[in-house]
Amino acid sequence: MQDLDGKVGVVTGAASGIGRAVALRMAADGMKVVLADIDQDALNAATSEITAAGGEAIGQICDVRHEHEIQALADAAIDRFGAVHVVHNNAGVVTAAPLDKLTTADWEWVLGVDLWSVIFGVKTFLPLIRDAGEGHIVNTASTAGLQSNAGIGPYNVAKFGVVALTETLALELGDEPNINASVLCPGAINTQIASSERSRPQELADHVETEVGENFVKHAGAMLATKGKDPSEVADLVMHGITTNQFWLITHEPWKQLMVDRAAALANDGSLFHGFGG
Ligand SMILES: NC(=O)c1ccc[n+]([C@@H]2O[C@H](COP(=O)([O-])OP(=O)(O)OC[C@H]3O[C@@H](n4cnc5c(N)ncnc54)[C@H](O)[C@@H]3O)[C@@H](O)[C@H]2O)c1
Repeated sequence: MQDLDGKVGVVTGAASGIGRAVALRMAADGMKVVLADIDQDALNAATSEITAAGGEAIGQICDVRHEHEIQALADAAIDRFGAVHVVHNNAGVVTAAPLDKLTTADWEWVLGVDLWSVIFGVKTFLPLIRDAGEGHIVNTASTAGLQSNAGIGPYNVAKFGVVALTETLALELGDEPNINASVLCPGAINTQIASSERSRPQELADHVETEVGENFVKHAGAMLATKGKDPSEVADLVMHGITTNQFWLITHEPWKQLMVDRAAALANDGSLFHGFGG
Protein backbone atom coordinates (compact mmCIF):
# COMPACT_ATOMS: atom_id res chain seq x y z
CA MET A 1 0.00 0.00 0.00
CA GLN A 2 1.68 3.18 -1.06
CA ASP A 3 -0.81 5.95 -0.49
CA LEU A 4 -1.95 6.05 3.14
CA ASP A 5 -3.47 9.54 3.09
CA GLY A 6 -7.18 9.41 4.01
CA LYS A 7 -7.07 5.62 4.62
CA VAL A 8 -8.38 4.03 7.83
CA GLY A 9 -6.10 2.29 10.33
CA VAL A 10 -7.01 0.22 13.40
CA VAL A 11 -4.43 -0.36 16.16
CA THR A 12 -4.85 -2.53 19.26
CA GLY A 13 -2.87 -1.82 22.41
CA ALA A 14 -2.88 1.76 21.14
CA ALA A 15 -2.87 3.49 24.54
CA SER A 16 0.81 2.87 25.29
CA GLY A 17 4.22 2.03 23.87
CA ILE A 18 4.46 0.69 20.32
CA GLY A 19 0.73 0.82 19.54
CA ARG A 20 0.47 4.42 20.67
CA ALA A 21 3.47 5.41 18.55
CA VAL A 22 2.05 3.66 15.48
CA ALA A 23 -1.38 5.30 15.96
CA LEU A 24 0.22 8.77 16.25
CA ARG A 25 2.35 8.11 13.21
CA MET A 26 -0.64 6.89 11.16
CA ALA A 27 -2.46 10.12 12.00
CA ALA A 28 0.61 12.21 11.14
CA ASP A 29 0.63 10.46 7.75
CA GLY A 30 -2.99 11.54 7.14
CA MET A 31 -4.76 8.33 8.14
CA LYS A 32 -8.00 8.14 10.12
CA VAL A 33 -7.26 6.07 13.19
CA VAL A 34 -9.24 3.76 15.47
CA LEU A 35 -7.34 3.22 18.70
CA ALA A 36 -8.28 0.18 20.81
CA ASP A 37 -7.21 -0.65 24.36
CA ILE A 38 -8.51 -1.62 27.82
CA ASP A 39 -6.88 1.35 29.59
CA GLN A 40 -9.57 4.03 29.34
CA ASP A 41 -7.53 7.01 30.62
CA ALA A 42 -4.45 6.32 28.50
CA LEU A 43 -6.68 5.60 25.49
CA ASN A 44 -8.47 8.93 25.92
CA ALA A 45 -5.12 10.71 26.20
CA ALA A 46 -3.69 9.13 23.02
CA THR A 47 -6.90 9.74 21.05
CA SER A 48 -7.09 13.38 22.23
CA GLU A 49 -3.47 13.93 21.27
CA ILE A 50 -4.36 13.02 17.68
CA THR A 51 -7.58 15.05 17.48
CA ALA A 52 -5.98 18.07 19.19
CA ALA A 53 -3.38 18.09 16.42
CA GLY A 54 -6.14 18.13 13.79
CA GLY A 55 -6.22 14.40 13.06
CA GLU A 56 -9.28 12.15 12.87
CA ALA A 57 -9.42 9.43 15.50
CA ILE A 58 -11.72 7.50 17.82
CA GLY A 59 -10.86 5.43 20.88
CA GLN A 60 -12.65 2.14 21.50
CA ILE A 61 -12.45 0.12 24.68
CA CYS A 62 -11.73 -3.41 23.49
CA ASP A 63 -10.46 -6.43 25.40
CA VAL A 64 -8.77 -8.19 22.51
CA ARG A 65 -9.08 -11.61 24.20
CA HIS A 66 -12.73 -11.72 23.18
CA GLU A 67 -13.91 -12.25 19.61
CA HIS A 68 -17.13 -10.29 20.16
CA GLU A 69 -15.10 -7.26 21.32
CA ILE A 70 -12.94 -7.44 18.20
CA GLN A 71 -16.18 -7.57 16.19
CA ALA A 72 -17.45 -4.49 18.08
CA LEU A 73 -14.16 -2.76 17.25
CA ALA A 74 -14.61 -3.51 13.56
CA ASP A 75 -18.23 -2.29 13.73
CA ALA A 76 -17.09 0.96 15.39
CA ALA A 77 -14.48 1.53 12.67
CA ILE A 78 -17.01 0.97 9.88
CA ASP A 79 -19.67 3.10 11.61
CA ARG A 80 -17.28 6.03 12.02
CA PHE A 81 -15.09 5.87 8.91
CA GLY A 82 -16.88 3.52 6.47
CA ALA A 83 -13.91 1.22 5.72
CA VAL A 84 -10.79 -0.39 7.16
CA HIS A 85 -7.51 -0.55 5.25
CA VAL A 86 -4.70 -1.14 7.76
CA VAL A 87 -4.92 -3.25 10.92
CA HIS A 88 -2.14 -3.53 13.47
CA ASN A 89 -2.85 -6.41 15.86
CA ASN A 90 -0.44 -5.24 18.52
CA ALA A 91 -1.79 -5.53 22.11
CA GLY A 92 0.39 -7.76 24.24
CA VAL A 93 1.28 -8.75 27.80
CA VAL A 94 3.92 -10.93 29.41
CA THR A 95 4.17 -12.86 32.67
CA ALA A 96 7.24 -14.62 34.01
CA ALA A 97 7.61 -17.87 35.99
CA PRO A 98 9.23 -21.26 35.37
CA LEU A 99 7.01 -23.73 33.47
CA ASP A 100 6.21 -25.82 36.56
CA LYS A 101 5.02 -22.74 38.47
CA LEU A 102 2.82 -21.22 35.76
CA THR A 103 -0.92 -21.39 36.44
CA THR A 104 -3.61 -22.14 33.89
CA ALA A 105 -4.69 -18.52 34.39
CA ASP A 106 -1.19 -17.33 33.36
CA TRP A 107 -1.44 -19.34 30.13
CA GLU A 108 -5.01 -18.25 29.39
CA TRP A 109 -4.21 -14.59 29.95
CA VAL A 110 -1.06 -14.40 27.83
CA LEU A 111 -2.34 -16.64 25.03
CA GLY A 112 -5.62 -14.69 25.03
CA VAL A 113 -4.05 -11.24 24.70
CA ASP A 114 -1.04 -12.19 22.56
CA LEU A 115 -2.30 -14.95 20.25
CA TRP A 116 -6.10 -15.39 20.22
CA SER A 117 -6.44 -11.62 19.68
CA VAL A 118 -4.40 -11.87 16.49
CA ILE A 119 -6.38 -14.90 15.31
CA PHE A 120 -9.62 -12.95 15.87
CA GLY A 121 -8.12 -9.79 14.34
CA VAL A 122 -7.17 -11.51 11.10
CA LYS A 123 -10.47 -13.41 10.86
CA THR A 124 -12.58 -10.31 11.53
CA PHE A 125 -10.71 -7.66 9.56
CA LEU A 126 -9.51 -9.52 6.46
CA PRO A 127 -13.01 -9.52 4.86
CA LEU A 128 -13.31 -5.78 5.58
CA ILE A 129 -9.92 -5.08 3.97
CA ARG A 130 -11.05 -7.12 0.95
CA ASP A 131 -14.20 -4.95 0.81
CA ALA A 132 -11.99 -1.84 0.87
CA GLY A 133 -10.02 -3.23 -2.11
CA GLU A 134 -6.57 -2.65 -0.62
CA GLY A 135 -4.87 -2.89 2.73
CA HIS A 136 -2.30 -4.36 5.04
CA ILE A 137 -2.27 -6.41 8.25
CA VAL A 138 0.64 -6.03 10.67
CA ASN A 139 0.85 -8.48 13.56
CA THR A 140 3.15 -7.79 16.50
CA ALA A 141 5.16 -10.85 17.49
CA SER A 142 8.57 -10.40 19.15
CA THR A 143 12.10 -11.65 18.92
CA ALA A 144 10.63 -14.15 21.42
CA GLY A 145 8.74 -15.49 18.39
CA LEU A 146 12.09 -16.27 16.73
CA GLN A 147 14.08 -17.58 19.71
CA SER A 148 12.64 -18.66 23.07
CA ASN A 149 13.70 -17.13 26.38
CA ALA A 150 13.72 -19.04 29.68
CA GLY A 151 11.08 -17.88 32.19
CA ILE A 152 8.41 -16.58 29.79
CA GLY A 153 6.94 -19.77 28.30
CA PRO A 154 3.44 -18.50 27.45
CA TYR A 155 4.89 -15.42 25.77
CA ASN A 156 7.29 -17.53 23.64
CA VAL A 157 4.46 -19.88 22.62
CA ALA A 158 2.14 -16.98 21.75
CA LYS A 159 4.76 -15.10 19.76
CA PHE A 160 5.93 -18.17 17.78
CA GLY A 161 2.21 -18.61 17.08
CA VAL A 162 1.88 -15.05 15.79
CA VAL A 163 4.84 -15.60 13.43
CA ALA A 164 3.27 -18.85 12.13
CA LEU A 165 -0.15 -17.21 11.75
CA THR A 166 1.27 -14.25 9.83
CA GLU A 167 3.37 -16.48 7.56
CA THR A 168 0.23 -18.50 6.84
CA LEU A 169 -1.70 -15.31 6.11
CA ALA A 170 0.96 -13.99 3.72
CA LEU A 171 1.16 -17.36 1.93
CA GLU A 172 -2.62 -17.50 1.55
CA LEU A 173 -2.78 -13.92 0.30
CA GLY A 174 -0.25 -14.98 -2.34
CA ASP A 175 -0.45 -12.50 -5.15
CA GLU A 176 -3.92 -11.28 -4.18
CA PRO A 177 -3.81 -7.71 -5.45
CA ASN A 178 -3.15 -4.90 -3.00
CA ILE A 179 -3.45 -6.84 0.27
CA ASN A 180 -0.32 -7.79 2.21
CA ALA A 181 0.88 -8.78 5.66
CA SER A 182 3.88 -8.14 7.90
CA VAL A 183 5.09 -9.60 11.17
CA LEU A 184 6.75 -7.17 13.57
CA CYS A 185 9.48 -8.70 15.76
CA PRO A 186 10.68 -6.01 18.18
CA GLY A 187 13.76 -6.43 20.33
CA ALA A 188 14.04 -4.23 23.41
CA ILE A 189 11.78 -1.15 23.14
CA ASN A 190 11.24 1.42 25.89
CA THR A 191 7.57 0.75 26.80
CA GLN A 192 5.48 -0.40 29.76
CA ILE A 193 5.49 -4.11 28.78
CA ALA A 194 7.47 -5.15 31.89
CA SER A 195 4.57 -3.91 34.04
CA SER A 196 2.01 -5.97 32.15
CA GLU A 197 0.53 -7.32 35.39
CA ARG A 198 -1.36 -4.00 35.60
CA SER A 199 -3.56 -5.30 32.77
CA ARG A 200 -4.32 -8.76 34.20
CA PRO A 201 -8.10 -9.33 34.53
CA GLN A 202 -9.57 -10.27 37.94
CA GLU A 203 -10.89 -13.62 36.73
CA LEU A 204 -7.35 -14.70 35.78
CA ALA A 205 -5.66 -13.45 38.97
CA ASP A 206 -4.31 -16.89 39.95
CA HIS A 207 -0.53 -16.47 39.76
CA VAL A 208 2.39 -17.76 41.83
CA GLU A 209 5.09 -15.22 42.73
CA THR A 210 8.54 -16.63 41.95
CA GLU A 211 12.08 -15.29 41.92
CA VAL A 212 12.04 -15.58 38.13
CA GLY A 213 8.93 -13.41 37.99
CA GLU A 214 10.26 -10.78 40.39
CA ASN A 215 13.60 -10.58 38.58
CA PHE A 216 11.86 -10.23 35.25
CA VAL A 217 9.80 -7.23 36.34
CA LYS A 218 12.81 -5.57 37.98
CA HIS A 219 15.49 -6.26 35.37
CA ALA A 220 13.42 -6.19 32.18
CA GLY A 221 11.78 -2.92 33.25
CA ALA A 222 15.11 -1.25 33.99
CA MET A 223 16.75 -2.66 30.85
CA LEU A 224 13.95 -1.47 28.56
CA ALA A 225 13.96 1.99 30.18
CA THR A 226 17.73 2.43 29.72
CA LYS A 227 18.58 0.40 26.61
CA GLY A 228 15.27 0.05 24.75
CA LYS A 229 14.72 1.84 21.47
CA ASP A 230 12.14 4.60 21.35
CA PRO A 231 8.70 3.35 20.18
CA SER A 232 8.70 6.04 17.47
CA GLU A 233 11.51 4.12 15.74
CA VAL A 234 9.25 1.07 15.62
CA ALA A 235 6.47 3.21 14.18
CA ASP A 236 8.85 4.32 11.40
CA LEU A 237 9.68 0.68 10.62
CA VAL A 238 6.01 -0.35 10.61
CA MET A 239 4.93 2.44 8.26
CA HIS A 240 7.90 1.75 5.96
CA GLY A 241 6.99 -1.95 6.00
CA ILE A 242 3.43 -1.17 4.98
CA THR A 243 4.35 1.20 2.16
CA THR A 244 7.14 -1.02 0.78
CA ASN A 245 5.39 -4.35 1.46
CA GLN A 246 8.06 -5.92 3.62
CA PHE A 247 7.09 -9.13 5.46
CA TRP A 248 9.69 -9.32 8.27
CA LEU A 249 9.95 -6.17 10.40
CA ILE A 250 12.99 -6.70 12.64
CA THR A 251 13.86 -3.75 14.86
CA HIS A 252 17.36 -4.87 15.91
CA GLU A 253 19.86 -5.90 13.21
CA PRO A 254 21.82 -8.46 15.32
CA TRP A 255 18.75 -10.68 15.33
CA LYS A 256 19.22 -11.42 11.64
CA GLN A 257 22.61 -13.07 12.27
CA LEU A 258 21.15 -14.83 15.30
CA MET A 259 18.60 -16.49 13.03
CA VAL A 260 21.44 -17.68 10.77
CA ASP A 261 23.20 -19.13 13.84
CA ARG A 262 20.01 -20.80 15.03
CA ALA A 263 19.47 -22.43 11.63
CA ALA A 264 23.13 -23.53 11.61
CA ALA A 265 22.74 -25.25 15.01
CA LEU A 266 19.71 -27.08 13.67
CA ALA A 267 21.43 -28.10 10.43
CA ASN A 268 24.88 -28.91 11.81
CA ASP A 269 24.60 -30.94 14.99
CA GLY A 270 20.99 -30.57 16.11
CA SER A 271 22.01 -28.95 19.39
CA LEU A 272 19.78 -26.57 21.37
CA PHE A 273 20.51 -22.99 20.40
CA HIS A 274 20.64 -20.60 23.35
CA GLY A 275 20.57 -17.25 21.55
CA PHE A 276 21.16 -14.07 23.51
CA GLY A 277 19.06 -15.05 26.50
CA GLY A 278 19.62 -18.62 27.68
N1 LIG B 1 8.62 -3.40 24.45
C1 LIG B 1 9.33 -4.38 23.98
O1 LIG B 1 10.55 -4.49 24.23
C2 LIG B 1 8.67 -5.42 23.10
C3 LIG B 1 9.49 -6.39 22.51
C4 LIG B 1 8.90 -7.36 21.71
C5 LIG B 1 7.54 -7.33 21.49
N2 LIG B 1 6.76 -6.39 22.07
C6 LIG B 1 5.31 -6.43 21.80
O2 LIG B 1 4.85 -5.14 21.44
C7 LIG B 1 3.44 -5.09 21.69
C8 LIG B 1 3.10 -3.78 22.36
O3 LIG B 1 3.64 -3.79 23.68
P1 LIG B 1 4.43 -2.55 24.29
O4 LIG B 1 5.83 -2.97 24.43
O5 LIG B 1 4.09 -1.32 23.57
O6 LIG B 1 3.83 -2.57 25.79
P2 LIG B 1 2.89 -1.54 26.59
O7 LIG B 1 2.59 -2.22 27.88
O8 LIG B 1 3.51 -0.20 26.64
O9 LIG B 1 1.58 -1.46 25.68
C9 LIG B 1 0.68 -2.56 25.60
C10 LIG B 1 -0.75 -2.04 25.51
O10 LIG B 1 -1.61 -3.20 25.40
C11 LIG B 1 -2.76 -2.93 26.21
N3 LIG B 1 -3.45 -4.17 26.58
C12 LIG B 1 -3.08 -5.08 27.52
N4 LIG B 1 -4.01 -6.05 27.60
C13 LIG B 1 -4.98 -5.76 26.69
C14 LIG B 1 -6.19 -6.38 26.31
N5 LIG B 1 -6.63 -7.51 26.91
N6 LIG B 1 -6.93 -5.81 25.32
C15 LIG B 1 -6.51 -4.67 24.75
N7 LIG B 1 -5.37 -4.02 25.06
C16 LIG B 1 -4.62 -4.57 26.04
C17 LIG B 1 -2.21 -2.18 27.42
O11 LIG B 1 -3.23 -1.46 28.11
C18 LIG B 1 -1.17 -1.26 26.76
O12 LIG B 1 -1.76 -0.03 26.39
C19 LIG B 1 3.10 -6.34 22.50
O13 LIG B 1 2.50 -7.31 21.66
C20 LIG B 1 4.45 -6.82 22.98
O14 LIG B 1 4.47 -8.21 23.22
C21 LIG B 1 7.30 -5.43 22.88
